[in-house]
Amino acid sequence: MFDVNEIRKDFPMLQGKTMNGHPLAYLDNSATTLKPRQVIEAVNHFYCDITANAHRGDYELSQKVDQLYEETRKIIARMLNCDPLEVAYTSGTTYGVNQVAWGYVRTHLKKGDVILITEAEHASNVLPWFRLADECGFKIEYIPLNEEGRLTIENFRKALHEGVRFVAVAEIGNVLGYRAPVKEMCRLAHEIGARMLVDGAQSVPHGHTDVKDMDCDFLCFSAHKMCGPSGMGVMYGKSELLKETEPLCLGGGSNARFFSCGDVILKESPYKFESGTQNIEGIMGMGAAASYLMDIGFDNIAAHERELRDYLVRQLEKLDNVILYNPNGDSGIVTFNVKGIFSQDAAGYLASQGIAVRSGNHCAKILVDFLKTDDTIRSSLYFYNTKEDVDALVEAVRTCTIENCIGIFF
Ligand code: ALA
Repeated sequence: MFDVNEIRKDFPMLQGKTMNGHPLAYLDNSATTLKPRQVIEAVNHFYCDITANAHRGDYELSQKVDQLYEETRKIIARMLNCDPLEVAYTSGTTYGVNQVAWGYVRTHLKKGDVILITEAEHASNVLPWFRLADECGFKIEYIPLNEEGRLTIENFRKALHEGVRFVAVAEIGNVLGYRAPVKEMCRLAHEIGARMLVDGAQSVPHGHTDVKDMDCDFLCFSAHKMCGPSGMGVMYGKSELLKETEPLCLGGGSNARFFSCGDVILKESPYKFESGTQNIEGIMGMGAAASYLMDIGFDNIAAHERELRDYLVRQLEKLDNVILYNPNGDSGIVTFNVKGIFSQDAAGYLASQGIAVRSGNHCAKILVDFLKTDDTIRSSLYFYNTKEDVDALVEAVRTCTIENCIGIFF
């Protein structure tokens, strides 16, 4: 049974913490999430009980580390419904997208081929493609968003043509929180022989993910947005595609042999992508985080977020000082502005009331043209948030006036 009050007991950051004299309402979960003690204990276990390198030692401690290192791969594979050997560790979504861009797309597209993205993408799913296109002569095209800011299947059909060889989109956008129809998109992309990467940074932590059912070619996500450690993530790739993907980075651990003539024999996937001592404690923490989320149940997580989100939208709609950008969003992301107040000033005032949200362009710097504003306030919910957190946010927004904002700065 899902009980948010029981769940909150797992999080040290939710035990009576205050911000500026108010109970902390942490509503910046799209930026990063809080960590339960299960994750903290997994990381501490590595530091306190079993510190050793992975895949390098012939003693018991190191073998224990090897076992947990590979155990996490199995846990992640269970979470995604894939083979553990299709799970490569990365430092996060950004590295994963760069790895796919330079290791796969660079060698599989030719000059003039098109990479399709949207104007709603976060920098990490834009800039790798810009640089690749620039250096290799590929073209970037955008799937038009509809009037609400959504990626629809109708618009995707219109944007697809024979020149499109690769598609890269976020399953859930990090500003408007809309869900892209990725399963149907993969099917259509494959019909014309194109490959597709799904940026799962904002979706994997919040709902059930099945890469086999979705049939994406690659999927990247970050551990820190799913209650795990920072600097840790995953690149999933279909095994036949990982075989054709060159590692971005070479060094110890990724090669089977190298010779004085310069020949290098790489290990099989996913090991060829894991050069150098990996973020072992991060891997253990990510394994604990994935197990924790699966124990709670992704359906429960999604249902709780949907209920809270609907409640938040209903309350914000009652206020006449609010501009809402995504009243019909599909996730826990609710984005708005307070009329006549610069978003960062408003976020500063909200912080003075104990509310943590993000303001600005949220690294989605092309979307500002669509939104017709450079800055918004983004509140993003997770399964440990409560109606009280939402009430605190709404009350702070209600009292967010120019006078009150000035009051906190002077
Ligand atoms: N990508 C993170 C965000 O959207 C940092 O806030």
